[in-house]
Amino acid sequence: MHNSIPKSNILETIKKRYSCRKYLPEPVSQEHQDLLAQAVRWAPSACNRQPYNFLFITDRDTIEAISKAVPTGPESINAWIATAPLIVAAVGRPELFWHKLTQVIDKDYHRTDAAIAMDHLSLVATELGLGTCWVGWFHRKKVGRILDVGRGDETIILMTVGYPDKEAPRAKIRKELDELIVNR
Ligand SMILES: Cc1cc2nc3c(=O)[nH]c(=O)nc-3n(C[C@H](O)[C@H](O)[C@H](O)COP(=O)(O)O)c2cc1C
Repeated sequence: MHNSIPKSNILETIKKRYSCRKYLPEPVSQEHQDLLAQAVRWAPSACNRQPYNFLFITDRDTIEAISKAVPTGPESINAWIATAPLIVAAVGRPELFWHKLTQVIDKDYHRTDAAIAMDHLSLVATELGLGTCWVGWFHRKKVGRILDVGRGDETIILMTVGYPDKEAPRAKIRKELDELIVNR
């Protein structure tokens, strides 16, 4: 029977992660950046195609420009992004997702794969004492131009990373298990 509970504290790390929207100006150390790179590297992907690249962005002007590239509404809506010393952009490369089974399976797996890898990154970051926040509210074309993303490639999701500045803690609100899990 596989019913033993492993000693891993991954569930604690999952519960500890939160959306950090205020960072100290201190750069993310190279050692920590290397571990974040390992986190995305070891993520699973459909057919192991790894159809993505991850841009580690530390240039201040680029980060400022991204913070202003909002789809609609005032630019200030994403102003907090500019406090992050590092933004990781997951760039999907659908052209890498070829496989003999591609005709029968969903071709959008580059997005799923990118999300898995970025979630790994956020959890390793949490263990390292780094704050992160997913950023989906951005103008894809503008950000693609800012980052010089290749034709046909897609900036799927961004994640801010940095050492957290003090913020008022927010309550973690989640559905109750009986609303979330359906046993069939
Ligand atoms: C795919 C995705 C996109 C998100 N985009 C944004 C965003 O653009 N701006 C933002 O402030 N938060 C964004 N968030 C953060 C969510 O608002 C946050 O995860 C949610 O409210 C739960 O809070 P928690 O992360 O602190 O547990 C995003 C989260 C995900 C998963």
